Amino acid sequence: MPALTIDGLKITVEPGTTVLQACELAGREIPRFCYHERLSIAGNCRMCLVEMERSPKPIASCAMPAADGMTILTDTPLVRSAREGVMEFLLINHPLDCPVCDQGGECDLQDQALVYGRDRGRYDENKRAVEEKDFGPLIKTFMTRCIHCTRCVRFMEEVAGSPELGGLYRGEDMEITSAIAGGLGSELSGNIVDLCPVGALTSKPYAFTARSWELRSTETVDALDAVGSSIRVDARGAQIMRVLPRLNEAVNEEWIADKARYACDGLRRQRLDRPYIRGRDGRLAPASWDEALTVVARRLGGAGDRFGAIAGDLCDAEAMCALKDLADRLGSPHIDCRQDGAKLQASPRAGYLFNTTIAGIEEADLCLLVGTDPRWEAPLVNQRLRKRWRTGGMSVASVGPSRDLGYTVQHLGDGPAPLAEIAGGRHEFCRSFEGAEKPMVVFGMGALTRDDGAAILALGHMLAERYNMVREDWNGFNVLHTAAARVGGLDLGLVPGEGGLDAASMARAAVAGELEVLYLLGADEIDTAALGDTFVVYQGHHGDRGAHRADVVLPGAAYTEKPATYVNTEGRVQYAQRAVFPPGDARDDWTILRALSGILDRPLPYDDLAALRRRMKVLCPHLGSSDQVVPASWQAFGVDGPIDPAPFAPPIRNYYMTDPISRASETMAHCTREFGDIVKARVEAGG
Ligand code: SF4
Ligand code: SF4
Ligand code: FES
Repeated sequence: MPALTIDGLKITVEPGTTVLQACELAGREIPRFCYHERLSIAGNCRMCLVEMERSPKPIASCAMPAADGMTILTDTPLVRSAREGVMEFLLINHPLDCPVCDQGGECDLQDQALVYGRDRGRYDENKRAVEEKDFGPLIKTFMTRCIHCTRCVRFMEEVAGSPELGGLYRGEDMEITSAIAGGLGSELSGNIVDLCPVGALTSKPYAFTARSWELRSTETVDALDAVGSSIRVDARGAQIMRVLPRLNEAVNEEWIADKARYACDGLRRQRLDRPYIRGRDGRLAPASWDEALTVVARRLGGAGDRFGAIAGDLCDAEAMCALKDLADRLGSPHIDCRQDGAKLQASPRAGYLFNTTIAGIEEADLCLLVGTDPRWEAPLVNQRLRKRWRTGGMSVASVGPSRDLGYTVQHLGDGPAPLAEIAGGRHEFCRSFEGAEKPMVVFGMGALTRDDGAAILALGHMLAERYNMVREDWNGFNVLHTAAARVGGLDLGLVPGEGGLDAASMARAAVAGELEVLYLLGADEIDTAALGDTFVVYQGHHGDRGAHRADVVLPGAAYTEKPATYVNTEGRVQYAQRAVFPPGDARDDWTILRALSGILDRPLPYDDLAALRRRMKVLCPHLGSSDQVVPASWQAFGVDGPIDPAPFAPPIRNYYMTDPISRASETMAHCTREFGDIVKARVEAGG
């Protein structure tokens, strides 16, 4: 291992470490613009210059491998003057825009100019100006500010797998531009805004709305897919202004998907801020909490087992626990958290988790995707698959929708036939599984929401056993969820009890007049127009499909407005925090159910959040863990049965609109319009 001396300090580093990384290990801060630890080395800004003994001139530390016996000096008059020289060159063409630049206050160039900038320039020539580029509805460009670090170009090519950006021309004429005008089609494109060290790329929806020092930050988790990315929510007063990623190596590294970042304007629109009761004229009229809860309690009181409840995709575990307890107190077994009809059972846990874990993908050497389009269902899982694929040593095959995922995928077929052949050892792909050391298989909702989903799941179990995918040190069986609520719901047992109806059967029973009350806890993805004359209670935060059909609307809180527990697709328990209060009269969801139980004279056994969380822990001990994946024990799951040869259909038709929040978002509507052709082409390609 190379041993070198940095500012008189001797350190030993791993082979392959750069001088810049070695300096950091030695506790020295090196300024940089182009270097980024998750991107390839470009070495083009020269801001990281340091002095190396026996070198006639300073070296770019990010591009120089650390070698044995090196002596590095990071803080000498030569280093300082070299960095000041680089800064002077950078500022030759940089506009004096700080007062009107969205990067102001959080700009690397501003910060470094404070340390290495001179108080006057020596250049009188006109500054260059570069035309704005059209990077679509999410990214605003101001290319005159670009310092050509190429971080954005490298991110799109290396991480996003969508090489849409590049540099045109040379020298002073160089411009960063997109290959095709009209927006970046990657679902990870917003990350280049964070990567850009200057204000050349900024968030278009956030442009000129706030300054960083006006914002109050809250660390929380995303709920718009089942990945559970760590995010930071920045609010000004009662309004959420932007969402940024937080570092979480196990889940999202330092990236987030565009929906998580940009759908936040949907949290301001179409909100339910007071209870409503449908009057005799058929219209929803505002009501007080007392009136609304009394009407609901009156209907629920005599419903008994003619009561059904469906939990939606954004529900937190606390609210689902309260809903289940209420259904139990009313004596009804009709409860379900699988509004898409996924044929998953609440036990065993290994049968519905992404057991390999997201970080574990980096150890896999073979991956079979079944009925899933991870690029839309979980862009950050797709990014990990691509990351692993890029390092070599992992091949990917798919059964189901065939789409551009950003890496090479061997397409084995559209329907379940090849899967059955592989599970039965009759397909040529079996040889790949037999030769793999750490194979994994990922089942998506496209495979598991079909009528034969339980039989497909049984095939998955057979496949995992046949190819020794489940061992003490490895579990290669995975279910990729699309709903943030789903794993928490299954953990808490929100599936029909004995003789109970699932979501689809409840809807049929409602049409047939066999259900008296249907309680929709944020359930908007069922066919709410086909619920017959059943009395429908909708508890949620947006005036979406469920609220339009409801007879009583009870306003709840969105994921950024309540302390809440979410369990991601890996089974990782994470806690959301309140960034702002819910609007108007809206309340935390579990408190609404607790209040309702009181009026019904069947009070739930908890009066505060701590007591409810203790109750959840009793029901499900791993809900007491935090940010950990507790390995699930491997048991039989799925049900053998006939398999329909029809192709697997992708569960998501439009990435930008999948839930009440993104459907209310103006930005997501712009994306749907702008990327309509891309959306259509991908859907058509998937059949
Ligand atoms: Fe100022 Fe930074 Fe914006 Fe340049 S990019 S105008 S230095 S805030
Ligand atoms: Fe670097 Fe930003 Fe220019 Fe891209 S746009 S090359 S990230 S300065
Ligand atoms: Fe080293 Fe840019 S950070 S050259």
